[in-house]
Amino acid sequence: MSNTATLVYDGKQYELPIVVGTEHEKAIDITSLRADTGLITLDSGYANTGACRSAITYIDGERGILRYRGYPIEELAVKATFVETSYLLIFGELPTASQLADFRALLAEHELIHEDMRHHFDGFPPNSPPMAILSAMINAAGCFEPVFMAPDDDEHFMESAARLMSKVRTIAAASYRKSIGKPMNYPRPDLRYTANFLHMMFSRPHRLYEPDPVVVEALDRLLLLHADHEQNCSTSTVRMVGSSHANLYASVAAGVCALWGPLHGGANVAVIEMLTKLLESGEKLETFIERVKRRDAGVRLMGFGHRVYKNFDPRAKIIKASCDALLERLGIHDPLLDLAVRLEEIALSDDYFIERKLYPNVDYYSGIIMRAIGIPTNMFTVMFAIGRLPGWIAHWREVRISDSRIDRPRQIYVGPAERSYVPLEERG
Ligand code: CMC
Repeated sequence: MSNTATLVYDGKQYELPIVVGTEHEKAIDITSLRADTGLITLDSGYANTGACRSAITYIDGERGILRYRGYPIEELAVKATFVETSYLLIFGELPTASQLADFRALLAEHELIHEDMRHHFDGFPPNSPPMAILSAMINAAGCFEPVFMAPDDDEHFMESAARLMSKVRTIAAASYRKSIGKPMNYPRPDLRYTANFLHMMFSRPHRLYEPDPVVVEALDRLLLLHADHEQNCSTSTVRMVGSSHANLYASVAAGVCALWGPLHGGANVAVIEMLTKLLESGEKLETFIERVKRRDAGVRLMGFGHRVYKNFDPRAKIIKASCDALLERLGIHDPLLDLAVRLEEIALSDDYFIERKLYPNVDYYSGIIMRAIGIPTNMFTVMFAIGRLPGWIAHWREVRISDSRIDRPRQIYVGPAERSYVPLEERG
């Protein structure tokens, strides 16, 4: 195998180095391309651009492989917890029993938000989208935290990571309580991460919500499955903001905004809205699929398709199995699940979806699990954010401990060529 690629341009030949990753994936290193040739590369949507070298997550979209720090997602999903997986992502290795105990202790220690932050929640109008509250409050939380985040010091950084993970969970639950006009619940240190979140969401004064272990397990797995996904839109955002040496809170707040969009994390909401509309309107699923194929008013089959996975999304497989098991154990029959299954069958046997390699993604069935748990639709993307947080933290840290430069892409300018200012009275 050659370790350079040859580019011929304008009668000259250039040798560009080939970079090889752990799994033998290959890239052309174009770092010196502009200096040598005057050319830049153009790649809309970065679909073919390797923005960095990363040691956190590996994806093979053709073979449906997802691994966190080398561990297959299928194994972690049944053997590990979300907190253990978070530690793995952030620090690179599975924790020992004492490291895990220390990390859990820090999560419990930092679960309260500063009392003054409670007033910030009152400033949001009723029905504010929880993703807007979440992003704003993470930035606000940064004002109450020590700025010293020591990304290259494991011990200090463990405290920063635990602090942020714990507070984001408290903020998320509080934003929900605010959105339904109910008082915020203080966290319970006797409960672990996911159970504590459920308590903060659903306990009422004098009526404690006792989290069902089946529900806790299902939600914990869902968070774990969302924990990282290499250079997706929100993670790239966190990395880009972090590359300017903005602090962890500011970078993660930006990531929340990127995740909010319906083509990214917001798709879990869009799926439930799509299924609910279909159920209420009684539209034939075949007719709906025809509309998708015709792109009537830009309609898409939400929860289908992925930039990287072109065979299946391994997370979707686990989520579907988890969804079936949870609903059965809770004795819930959700008509939206029946609809989703039928819609999937129709789509997967249709040439449009086959040719374009469109399969259910992580968002297709996750909403059904969250509905069964009692999480309202407008909180779905917030749940995604809680899950993705350890990935964002790991990537922010990776950027900060590397010697990478500030992210700053180039462009091909296609606007007007130079022209002179026209005085107001002369403009037509
Ligand atoms: N329904 C109908 N057609 C689709 C869909 C869909 N869900 N997804 C892609 N296509 C078509 C698209 O119209 C295009 O067709 P053509 O080649 O004829 O123009 C082709 O498939 C390629 O699509 P693309 O938009 O160029 O693909 P992309 O890699 O830019 O976008 C995606 C990936 C996930 C944004 C897109 O598949 C999509 O919009 N899916 C629905 C939203 C969704 O479920 N998002 C969650 C993604 S997974 C979790 C996450 O990232 O947060």
